Amino acid sequence: MIASKIIRVCAGTSKRLGRIFKVCRVDTIMMNKAAELLARSRFAVAFTGAGISAESGIPTFRGFNGLWKHYRPEELATPEAFRRNPELVWEFYRWRMGLIGKAKPNRAHLALAELEKMGVIKAVITQNVDDLHREAGSRRLIELHGNIFRVRCTSCAYRENLKDSGRLESFLREEKLPSCPICGSLLRPDVVWFGEPLPVNALDEAFRLAERSDLILVIGTSGIVYPAAYIPRIVKDRGGMVIEINTEESGITPIVDIFLMGKAGEIMNELVKRIGELMK
Ligand code: APR
Ligand code: ZN
Repeated sequence: MIASKIIRVCAGTSKRLGRIFKVCRVDTIMMNKAAELLARSRFAVAFTGAGISAESGIPTFRGFNGLWKHYRPEELATPEAFRRNPELVWEFYRWRMGLIGKAKPNRAHLALAELEKMGVIKAVITQNVDDLHREAGSRRLIELHGNIFRVRCTSCAYRENLKDSGRLESFLREEKLPSCPICGSLLRPDVVWFGEPLPVNALDEAFRLAERSDLILVIGTSGIVYPAAYIPRIVKDRGGMVIEINTEESGITPIVDIFLMGKAGEIMNELVKRIGELMK
């Protein structure tokens, strides 16, 4: 049962590594090695990107069928785009909020929450805005790019989490531009657009966590959007290990110690079982 799973998990490496049994063997060893390293780590953190939510039905940004193949980031995800055409940007964000609002955490999100409970993972640093780590039960969560369910005022300090306030559905039904209940100015999504700085506290905390980590588990990110993509590099530069899970090689792959090719949900499910066995 494990063998067939592994073959499926690592099918993408078959060309490079040759015959199937070799792929299978290499990856079983890799999985065990990754599980051992995580179980033995002193301070491990996870760093996640859109790929971890792909199995929850949320499109990634890059790659096959990625969002940025169909839409231009500069027309939808920049402050200039919002100034130029707030209607278009809000239409896009309402569509994404609706889609993400229906999504459920998958086995990868749940496995990370479980690893935190087991004391293996100390924090999850995410570039995702979809809230699925929180829904899965992750406690120490650093959201580098904001949260799609939060809106904030373009003039005053007003912020609202539409999921918490129970207003998400009515907000999505409205078609007019949303305005601030305090000052009447235009509201915007509380996410980080291209060209904008990351929230200082979140970035500081992420860098501090990376500096003290002896292992980082990187899941489903192309690793090319900075400053977030510095995080695994900080761990590596400080002598820590980097384990990556991705369906294909990424900008992080050149620095990894272990690369587990495959879908985040499948691999994390297997990994958490093996770590559980090691920690019995
Ligand atoms: N399991 C694991 N990895 C996957 C899966 C899966 N099921 N599906 C896709 N991937 C991988 C892809 O191979 C790719 O490397 O996930 C990665 C997704 O990359 P991006 O779409 O670039 O997402 P991300 O790295 O999170 O993007 C960073 O860019 O547009 C911005 O602000 C946005 O936070 C985002 C940032
Ligand atoms: Zn306001």
